[in-house]
This record gives sequence, C-alpha cells and structure tokens, in this order.
Amino acid sequence: MLKGKKVTVFVTGGIAAYKSADLVRKFIKAGADVRVAMTKSATEFITPLTLQILSKHDVMVDTFDEKHPEVVSHINLADWTELAVIAPATANTIAKMANGIADDAVSTVLLAVTAPRLIVPAMNQHMLENPATQANLRKLESFGYQIMEPDTGFLAEGYEGKGRMPEPQAIVEAAHLLLVDRSTDLPLIGKKIIVSAGGTREKIDPVRYLTNESSGKMGHRIAEAARDLGADVTLVTASSLEHPFGVRVKAVSSAREMQTAMMADFDTADIVVMAAAVSDYRPKNQADHKIKKTSGDLQILLEENPDILATMGQEKNKQFLIGFAAETDRVEEYAKGKLKRKNADMIVANDVSKEHAGFNKDTNEVIIFQVDKEAIHIETKTKAAIATDILLEAIKTMQNNDLLNK
Ligand code: C5P
Repeated sequence: MLKGKKVTVFVTGGIAAYKSADLVRKFIKAGADVRVAMTKSATEFITPLTLQILSKHDVMVDTFDEKHPEVVSHINLADWTELAVIAPATANTIAKMANGIADDAVSTVLLAVTAPRLIVPAMNQHMLENPATQANLRKLESFGYQIMEPDTGFLAEGYEGKGRMPEPQAIVEAAHLLLVDRSTDLPLIGKKIIVSAGGTREKIDPVRYLTNESSGKMGHRIAEAARDLGADVTLVTASSLEHPFGVRVKAVSSAREMQTAMMADFDTADIVVMAAAVSDYRPKNQADHKIKKTSGDLQILLEENPDILATMGQEKNKQFLIGFAAETDRVEEYAKGKLKRKNADMIVANDVSKEHAGFNKDTNEVIIFQVDKEAIHIETKTKAAIATDILLEAIKTMQNNDLLNK
C-alpha cells in the first residue's frame, strides 16, 4: 500500500522531532518516496541535513526559498503529496491547521494538500488536554483528517502522562491503514488470509533441534503482498526475520505449534498460504535435559508430524489453499501429485537446485499449478514480485469461481 506512494512528512517543533529520522527511514523501507517539510522550531531538534540525507530530497523549511523557478515550490510539494503525515504535530501547528493559518512552510503546504492527512499530536499532557487543543483536534477530525491517539508514558518533563509520540512503526501502520480504508479498488479488502513462513524447529533436547534451510523470506513477502492488496493478514512464522508492519504476527517454533496457530483462524480465512517448510518428522522423545555424549552411536527415533496443508484440504469449505513444493527434480510430477493428495487449490513449485531459486535467496523462479488449469511459469524475479504474482493469480481463479464475493 505504501509502495511507490508519495509521502510528505511534516516535522514540527517538539522534542519527539528526533524520532522523525527513524520515521522517514521506515516509510522508505516500506517502499514510499518521502519528502520532508519542517518548521523553523523543528530545526532546533533535528537538522534538515539529517532528513535530507535520509529522504534523498531537499527539505523545505522556508516557504520563500524557491530553488526551482519553473514551479511554485510549496504548491508543487502539496500537489505531489499522496499522503501527508504530520509527526510530531505540536499544539501550535494543530491550531494553525484548524484555522487555516499559513505562516510558515509546513502550514502553507498543508493548507494546499488535498491528499489524506495523518496528524500525530505529541506534546505535554496539559497542552493536549487544553480545551483549545481538543477543540482544534475535533475540528480537524470533522474536516476528514485522521488523528492518531498519543501514547501514555514517560514525558520529556520527567513525569508520566499522555502526549508521547507513538513509535515510528505504529505511525507507518496507521498510515497504511488510512490508505487501505480510503481505497475501494483493492481486490482483497475485507478478506482474511493466513500465511505460514519459515522452517519449523523440532526439539531434540532443550538446546538442540531439527530444522531446515528455509529462511521465511517467501512467506514474509507473501504476507506483505497480501497486506498491500488490502487483506487482513495473519502471519504464522517460524522465521527470525523482522516482522512486517500491518500484519498480525504469531511467532511459532514447531510444526504442531504452527498447526494450532493456523487452525485457530482457519474457519474465518478466505485464503491460506502454506509457504513454511514444515518438518515432516519430530523426535519421538524430547529430552528434558541436555543429552550427554556417550561412546558409540546415538539413535534418535522420529515420529511423523501432522501435515497442516493436507488437514486443511480435508476441512476446507470456502478457503482457497495455496501450498508450496520445493523440489530438486521431477518438479511437475511431484507438484501435481501434491495438488491432488493435499486437496489444495494451487501448488507453487520451485526447483531448489537452481541458482536463483529456493531457500534463503531473495529471488525465486516458480511454476504455478492449479486444478484444471494450464501451468504458469514465472521467470526469475524478486520474491516480493513473485508473491504479488501468486496472489493475483489466486484472485483471478477465485473471481472466476465466484469465491471472492462471498
Ligand atoms: O509434502 P511436502 O512437504 O513436499 O509439501 C509441501 C507443502 O505442504 C508446503 O506448502 C508445506 O508448507 C506443506 N506442509 C504442511 N505440513 C507438513 C509438511 C508440508 O503443511 N507436515
């Protein structure tokens, strides 16, 4: 949702302005193109140069600093903006916005912005509670601005109170949700999707386990792609990768934990993607104490793990089930076998022996198999791009079978 979005971060003069560097970084990481405008007071807390280097664009501080004669800079920035985030928003800037005052770069650009606006108030609790500030915030709300609730915690004044700026990650999530709420053309709005990721770990004793080479990258990219298509996403992950923003994350370790976490949401899910590399076996006895070295061989007896995808295949009613097949040979034959045996709707096969595909890589090359459909070959691309392709193909099939309107 934030990928390719033109986001302007408006920084005003509160102590929380130091967090705006991280906020700009997080928006860029989410794929946004970021510009920054700041008030003179904000430059007392963080330099324009810091934000210029991070955003890789000029930072606007002075309305009359017209560097480009071919345009009127403040109107140009306002027109460019697809999402305005005012963070931190001081009581002063909030008051100006509520009353149409334009006497510095931030308030002037904001008066001309027509894109969605997210205001992140951050100030002393008494300033926040002041009826004037409250009235201004309610007024801005009535104009259609989104106001983020300040956090409660330790304030710069040295006491606990309400008024802290929420963490940058929470602001990015709120921005994402604001954009999702306003778009009606995303195909997965109102749809629930569960994605599994990573290689499960099966305990041998308290310090040892059985696992595999899966990094979780494919599953995490699918969760992000589903989020960007408007879905309500639950990511059940056994991976240590950073958790994506805007999705509900359930961290698990073993196959049985993964199964419990996924089945809890299965009834209400519309799509399930099993991108995890689930261990087929687990040690039959998991020792309570570290197993000591003895002379001679050690045998570990393994017992079968539940097949999560196959269980879902038996229990499904409306859910569209997507599985993965990591193969080193006879890819088509094995993938088609899995489609049938597990009663899945789609199997995404990759040849993990190929250089640009499979475990731990940032790219993949896959073949999509579906019931009664020609196989689709997707050439080498980033896992993020492949994730979107897989979901768009699933959406197409679901639309053809009238599964998305239910
Ligand atoms: O049978 P195989 O492991 O090759 O099948 C791969 C697909 O089945 C993947 O989507 C994987 O997540 C899923 N699977 C599962 N439970 C298992 C083993 C695999 O859900 N125990």
